[in-house]
Amino acid sequence: MRFDFRRLLRGGREFLGEVGIILLGALLLSPAPAHSFGASPAASRWPLAQARNPAARNAAADEALIARIVAGMTLEQKVGQMTQPNIWSVTPDDVRRYCLGSILNGGGAWPGNRKDAGVADWLALSQRFYDASMSTDMPVKIPIIWGTDAVHGHNNIYGATLFPHNIGLGAAHDPALLTRIGHATARAVRATGITWVFAPAVAVAENPRWGRTYESYSSDPALVRSYADAIVRGLQGDLKGGDDVLATPKVWIGDGATFHGKEQGEIRASEAHLIRIQAAGFYGALKGGAQTVMASYASWTDTATNRPWGKTHGNRYLLTDVLKQRLGFDGFVVSDWNGIEQIPGCTKAHCPQAINAGIDLVMVPDDWKAFIGETAADVRSGAIPMARIDDAVSRIVRAKLRSGLFDGSPATGPHPGASAIGDAASRALAREAVRKSLVLLKNERRALPLSRSGRVLVVGAGADRMSDQTGGWSLTWQGNDNSNADFPNGETILGAIRSTLGTGQVDYSPDGKGVDPSRYRAIVAVAAEGAYAEGDGDIGFPATMRHSARYPADLAALDRVAGKGVPVVTILLSGRPVSANDLINRSDAFIAAWLPGTEGQGIADLLFAARNGRPAYDFSGRLSFDWPAGDCLRRGAVQFRRGYGLSYRRSARIGRLPVGPAIANCPPDTD
Ligand code: GLC
Repeated sequence: MRFDFRRLLRGGREFLGEVGIILLGALLLSPAPAHSFGASPAASRWPLAQARNPAARNAAADEALIARIVAGMTLEQKVGQMTQPNIWSVTPDDVRRYCLGSILNGGGAWPGNRKDAGVADWLALSQRFYDASMSTDMPVKIPIIWGTDAVHGHNNIYGATLFPHNIGLGAAHDPALLTRIGHATARAVRATGITWVFAPAVAVAENPRWGRTYESYSSDPALVRSYADAIVRGLQGDLKGGDDVLATPKVWIGDGATFHGKEQGEIRASEAHLIRIQAAGFYGALKGGAQTVMASYASWTDTATNRPWGKTHGNRYLLTDVLKQRLGFDGFVVSDWNGIEQIPGCTKAHCPQAINAGIDLVMVPDDWKAFIGETAADVRSGAIPMARIDDAVSRIVRAKLRSGLFDGSPATGPHPGASAIGDAASRALAREAVRKSLVLLKNERRALPLSRSGRVLVVGAGADRMSDQTGGWSLTWQGNDNSNADFPNGETILGAIRSTLGTGQVDYSPDGKGVDPSRYRAIVAVAAEGAYAEGDGDIGFPATMRHSARYPADLAALDRVAGKGVPVVTILLSGRPVSANDLINRSDAFIAAWLPGTEGQGIADLLFAARNGRPAYDFSGRLSFDWPAGDCLRRGAVQFRRGYGLSYRRSARIGRLPVGPAIANCPPDTD
């Protein structure tokens, strides 16, 4: 049936009825999601964003240059510009030959594959890749952009200051602190010749089973929104100086809302929920001026319509209609690590669906050559329109122009230099951030602050294990394959206590065996989850959320020293709220320390009074997530609500907390 648009113009009522029936039928009958009809009107449900370009540049001149650059490129050069291999699978000569647009160093990838590679090594490699990108056969050379995961400081670099992970920063409730941390991080990143960070994570974690809960600032979307704006401004500044980097709010969208908190799992939520909760950080980040966004591994099923949208890397509605068209995002979308392969019918090296959906730069760590060949063939076959390729390349060049990358080499141009790595200023900032991140859950019999006189016993393996403090994304991906020596500019909790009291006043027993607690004025016990990243950190449903069930040695050590008439202060290092009433009951004071990073001194600052006996600092941290009451996440079973936090002055008696029988698996009706 052909439409007679003249009748429509005449406003024929019967005609509109016909059109309405046809459209209604198409929507009801079509199994395909609305986004297959091109830009969906549904995107208008999303509030407009205040996306902005922080670089004061002549937009018209930029756009003219972009058009000229793209017009002069061959298809293979364009696809090369959309390709991002990991540094372990590409050489500078590859960059020259294939006109590669970007590289990354994933967790555990360093120059020369050396964990202790120095700043000079990073700068030298950056210069080699930059020179290669400027010696391609393209009429107008496009400088390569190097991305790295600087999610809590420049965390892949030996000697760097590692700040508390996001969950701890959320407890600080201090957006201005985030701006300062963003700037310190940007300085360290630029000191190594890198100009782009895959941060901040702006997920609103909704289930602490999720292994990436610690990458989330809070379950409060308003806090996440304010933090995203603040840290993007800290990272990017005006994108002019040698101490600014491109930020990447990640991941779009909803990775914190998956069913049972499964990493890369299925989001079962309405679109309204995505808008109200999971999009909050992106609105903040776009307002802060973000120029790149990373796509989510998660898939989405709209529970309001039961429509299965599938993996977000292939969701044109979310990536293009909403993020780019409705929210006005004119930077580029980067896929996650081999993220395209999770789309049905795709592989690591071949996925027209992802490009057509709106992925602009493809993080294809190893199979990048095949990707270039397959994608160019898709354009030639018509599977991918050339207009889509031109749009993707234009977005990538636009972000590079705005970042100042066309102004010259990031390795030999202005940058802060090696002094920005692990320097006194960043250490002092990290120490302040640690203090502000700590949440005092219990403080009875005025256990805290501890006096500096008398002997102190420290127990718990986590007290002297830096990797328990730094968590994942620390030198390596998982962060659990490091030693204390890998962090020359940091201090463990034990080290900080010894620095504060003097080594002779402090004894250490990892397991609490063979010591007589009565010989001590106070006991500090450290319990720790250990380091993990992504899915490796998931507490898969239905497993118990009880810390001592997963780490029995922590409870055993506490049992050996508690209840002996000596005050016990327990510090929990964790990437999430966990069920810990059994540990809390054995403690006179209990501190949620999250993953504080390399500055253990920030914890000692709040354990001990000053030499004059008065508090030098006080606790100010407040939970940014609810803290569970039991081993299973029953709706409403909360021990401490988001916003809770004591201080020396603001104390409260919590008495003996309920501890049920230990169970291995939670019943079906929980979380
Ligand atoms: C990882 C993470 C992402 C990170 C990327 C590069 O798989 O999902 O957050 O930025 O790969 O390391």
